[in-house]
Amino acid sequence: MSNKACTYVIFGATGNLSQVKLMPALYHLEMENRLPEGSKILAIGRRDWDQTILLKEVREMIKAKARGGLDETIFKRFSERLSYEKVNIDVAEDYDTLAKTLTSDRYPSNMAFYLAISPEYFADVIEKLSDVKLLEEGAGWRRMIIEKPFGYDLESSQALQQRIARYLKEEQIYRIDHYLGKGTVQNVLVFRFANTMLEPLWNRHYIDHIQITHSEDMGIGSRANYYDDAGAMRDMLQSHLLQLLTLVAMEPPATMDAESLRDEKVKVLKSIRPISKQAVNACAFRAQYSEGMIDGKKAKGYLQEENVPANSVTETYAAMKLYIDNWRWRDVPFYLRTGKRMQKGQSSISICFKQPPLQFFQNTQVQSMNPNWLLLGIQPEECIRMEMTVKEPGLEMRTRTSSLDASFRNEDESHTDAYEDLLLDVIEGDRSLFLRFDEVEYAWRIVDPILQKWAVERDFITTYPAGSWGPKECQRLFETDQQYWRSSLNNAKRD
Ligand code: BG6
Repeated sequence: MSNKACTYVIFGATGNLSQVKLMPALYHLEMENRLPEGSKILAIGRRDWDQTILLKEVREMIKAKARGGLDETIFKRFSERLSYEKVNIDVAEDYDTLAKTLTSDRYPSNMAFYLAISPEYFADVIEKLSDVKLLEEGAGWRRMIIEKPFGYDLESSQALQQRIARYLKEEQIYRIDHYLGKGTVQNVLVFRFANTMLEPLWNRHYIDHIQITHSEDMGIGSRANYYDDAGAMRDMLQSHLLQLLTLVAMEPPATMDAESLRDEKVKVLKSIRPISKQAVNACAFRAQYSEGMIDGKKAKGYLQEENVPANSVTETYAAMKLYIDNWRWRDVPFYLRTGKRMQKGQSSISICFKQPPLQFFQNTQVQSMNPNWLLLGIQPEECIRMEMTVKEPGLEMRTRTSSLDASFRNEDESHTDAYEDLLLDVIEGDRSLFLRFDEVEYAWRIVDPILQKWAVERDFITTYPAGSWGPKECQRLFETDQQYWRSSLNNAKRD
């Protein structure tokens, strides 16, 4: 066993996250020979699984996701690392048994605990692991991976932090925001800091506004129990979209190490102008999908989804306008929006540059022209595209938009999932793509006034038909009539 070998202990191993993300990601790491020799995976769940059931279930999980299909040789190697232990997470004695298992020779003493469980159990599980001394770093390291949401609002996130800080040092905590594991998201940093060309333009003197959109054509599926309490603001905006914003807006960190990078992200979050409760309506918008059509098929409204209360006013669409009060960004609006059951599933960052003066074109047929846009496609289209205005060939002075494209991936390069990157970083002890507590805390500070106001205004919520680009009323967030939500990476048409 190499001294890099580790044990991945997955709480919630029979659940959805493990099924669609974690097991496939670990299998892919096996395929790429990135799991240190001798590493093991201990799957933990409440169900009465034995080794045969575990392997059968994991095979199905992987079959559905494996790049190039499941390879029997790799799966055999992978399955030799796997075992299952039934643990009822409320039962103290089960942790005694778990401690015996994990401290036996079979398991490497470096341990990563992945909490793929409901957030209400995070602190309890950590406390119980500490009670049986599994968090003590002696023979090996101990790291705790915590899924989002980290808290429900500012206060609960602080309470959770205080509680877990009794058992874990900050360096042992890996708070996941899986967006940071996406290659196209990491490319935002590379694109910004490896190309000098754009840096002089990356500020309030040249940029008119910035938009960040995450839309999904899917509804909430079977997640009503979680989603109806959370809503789009907590589910996507407070976490993933604010993270994207920090990467677009941050100053270049001194180095790529975890602390330098996170210091700069925190500075951005701290510089965001607070939204007072009175300003919530001017700065934020929420809505809920009603019945509509997606791909020619009828789609249910949110209230008709399974387990959603008939009078729910939970938002499935949330948008906000933010200002970053620092020297680079003062007065440049950042518009963020997310929605379920929209016309298309896509994540993108669209940067709109200021209009050039049109004086030069007076007395020509050029009446107006599109501003330059820089478009960063995160998914499914992965691109960096810069739109420029050029002359239309011919005798007249007319212009049209042409674009320069830098694709993220060549055709022969395969897609790796965000979780592969993140699970590997945990083994390597690299925390740069994980959230430090102050990042989470400042992100909650930003959205808290909005959540509080929405929590008391429960009589009415605007709706938008499933399959649309969201409610038209949301246009009111924009500062000027020239600004509007840009939904396509291919053309600047208004929806
Ligand atoms: C999750 C949210 O964190 O991110 C989901 O809870 C959302 O509601 C998902 O669908 C989006 O992630 P991705 O990687 O599919 O864009």
